[in-house]
Amino acid sequence: MPSAAELSATPALRAVDLTLSFGSRAVLSGITADIQNGAVTAVIGPTGSGKTTLLRTFNRMNDKVTGYRHTGDVLLDGRSIWSPAVELMALRRRVGMLFQRANPFPMSIMDNVAAGVRAHKLAKGGEIREIARERLVEVGLWDAVSSRLKDSPFRLSGGQQQLLCLARALAISPEVLLLDEPTSALDPMATESIEKLIRTLVPKITVIIVTHNMAQARRVADRTIFLHQQQLVERGPTQQVFESPAREETARYVSGRFG
Ligand SMILES: Nc1ncnc2c1ncn2[C@@H]1O[C@H](COP(=O)(O)OP(=O)(O)OP(=O)(O)O)[C@@H](O)[C@H]1O
Ligand SMILES: [Mg+2]
Repeated sequence: MPSAAELSATPALRAVDLTLSFGSRAVLSGITADIQNGAVTAVIGPTGSGKTTLLRTFNRMNDKVTGYRHTGDVLLDGRSIWSPAVELMALRRRVGMLFQRANPFPMSIMDNVAAGVRAHKLAKGGEIREIARERLVEVGLWDAVSSRLKDSPFRLSGGQQQLLCLARALAISPEVLLLDEPTSALDPMATESIEKLIRTLVPKITVIIVTHNMAQARRVADRTIFLHQQQLVERGPTQQVFESPAREETARYVSGRFG
């Protein structure tokens, strides 16, 4: 058995000279980065800098997008996510994602949270309902939905729909959780509770969070990656990236003196 120290030394995910493009438009070029196991990593950068594209690549959501191409590799536990030995379904079970816009499935609130658990056959019957309840409690949605579990999720508010999708993503107990601006539709109280929740997920789950909120990155992230003009400009411990960045562009971006 590897020791805890050895485990955290092995990156959960590793991007190796990764270049991503749509048609002739290059989005990211030559990205090499280790995502530390059991830590929260923030991905920051201006609009259009490729944060979402990078996250979606990590669980192969872009593979079928027209015009999308990649070179280089992404390793999960040392193995390419595009290896023929890796089944897409198994990859998505290990690497969960919460999207920038809430995307509940057209089924009841309960079935939304249970969907992944059922699809991956992780539990059955009453067990599934118990997992769903636990996850809804965890994200702070239980009180709002406990009396309407059979209702459509589309009557929930935008923020509640996002929390529901988070509960759904957590229900399959992923090893890596990709969060694309998870709190942009939430009020300050819900935001604070999600930030607290994120800290309770580590070190069991490795979390990558895209955020435009610099204060949020500083609060939740152990490590930060800054993307700009197709490049990974800087990465390191969050405090270092924010307080003593090595690059001028990073200093300008994190202090809000950008553009
Ligand atoms: N499906 C697609 N087809 C073509 N171009 C795309 C597609 N998805 C993203 N892009 C382009 O890739 C670039 C990066 O987009 P991406 O959504 O990754 O940026 P982002 O950093 O997440 O921005 P934001 O902060 O606004 O969410 C943009 O120029 C965008 O127009
Ligand atoms: Mg985005």
